[in-house]
Amino acid sequence: MAKDINQDKFTDETQLKLQIFAECFREWIPVFIHDLYTKGVFIFDFFAGTGKDPDGNYGSPLILLNEAKGENCKYCNVVKKNNKKIYFVFNEKIESKQNELKQNIEEYLETCKKQNNCGENCIYQYRCDQKEFKDALQDELLEKYLHEKDYAKFALLDQYGFSQVDEQVFSKLISSPKTDFIFFISSSFINRFKELPQTKRYIDTNKIQFDEERPMDCHRLITDYYRNLIPEDKEYYLHHFTIKKGANYWGLIFGTSHSFGMEKFLRVCWNNDPLSGESNFNINNDYSEDSLFYDKNNTVKKQSIKNEIKDKILSSEITDNITGFKFTLKNGCLPELFTEVVKELEKENIIKRTGELNYSSTQIHRVDKYDISLVGKI
Ligand SMILES: C[S@@+](CC[C@H](N)C(=O)[O-])C[C@H]1O[C@@H](n2cnc3c(N)ncnc32)[C@H](O)[C@@H]1O
Repeated sequence: MAKDINQDKFTDETQLKLQIFAECFREWIPVFIHDLYTKGVFIFDFFAGTGKDPDGNYGSPLILLNEAKGENCKYCNVVKKNNKKIYFVFNEKIESKQNELKQNIEEYLETCKKQNNCGENCIYQYRCDQKEFKDALQDELLEKYLHEKDYAKFALLDQYGFSQVDEQVFSKLISSPKTDFIFFISSSFINRFKELPQTKRYIDTNKIQFDEERPMDCHRLITDYYRNLIPEDKEYYLHHFTIKKGANYWGLIFGTSHSFGMEKFLRVCWNNDPLSGESNFNINNDYSEDSLFYDKNNTVKKQSIKNEIKDKILSSEITDNITGFKFTLKNGCLPELFTEVVKELEKENIIKRTGELNYSSTQIHRVDKYDISLVGKI
């Protein structure tokens, strides 16, 4: 049985996981509270715990509540002005933990209302369930919320181990409209116990080619397993972040159907890992930052994706900026990397651009499209 995460002070690795949850949600929430086409947001924390560790450090439920109001409550004002709704659904299956959670949430909200003179005007509505996760996911009301096209949904699935986010759950999440999610998974355990029927019941490990020489890649490979579950004709983005703890590798997987969602998550990852945007250690054996050879703009990851982009442009598989940006995002890099390659090829007179010329590389869903052709082939 897994050790109760809320019983001891959160470890550094748990704190990092929580920090990434917080940063991810901090990027997510303003998009939807400012969006006039979104009536409100639902935030699901399916494995909520008690809300704190014994030192009072916030766990995911209080982190989400805290982030949702924004710095100096700036989002509360937007939500009130635009008459939006923010609903939280917390779930914790152990009764004693759920009771503690309810108490911690009430205390948090009381303090928040007092500090900000909100009285009864609090923007939050919340529900605290005590269900087995799979039952919570099948709850009639929750199913209805998940299918709401006018509401944005953020789902946090901080499971123990790997048994809860199976193929069925993953498919449900990726097919729910306007729904982004982030989940935790104990990738090392899957690698270690890949032959056991108890593991294969949840993850078809026959489809994963683990490399015994590179255990640090296990979380990447598990993300690829989930990636392969996405129907080919569906535009969807997944990215991963590996957290090394001792000899073990845990991980986070974020999913979104919108390029902007992935741009935002990738910024969080690259801020935490300037070498590869995907781990809390030097996963690609890059030169360290204190080495003479360290070059922030040419790390192993960036160089390898730049080379792939270059090859795809030269073989005319990529013939416009939007396709190029999406390729770059799907390979775990920020869109500006694509623009860097375009500038280089243009300078070397290898390509020409036509159409709405620009070098914009953020919010790619809004960027004007230009075409790319090979010089000499025009
Ligand atoms: C990793 S902890 C989550 C910690 C929490 N996110 C935090 O930041 O403190 C997983 C939590 O999910 C609960 N849990 C485990 N299995 C569950 C299930 N099948 N359904 C619902 N809750 C479950 C556990 O009791 C535990 O509190």
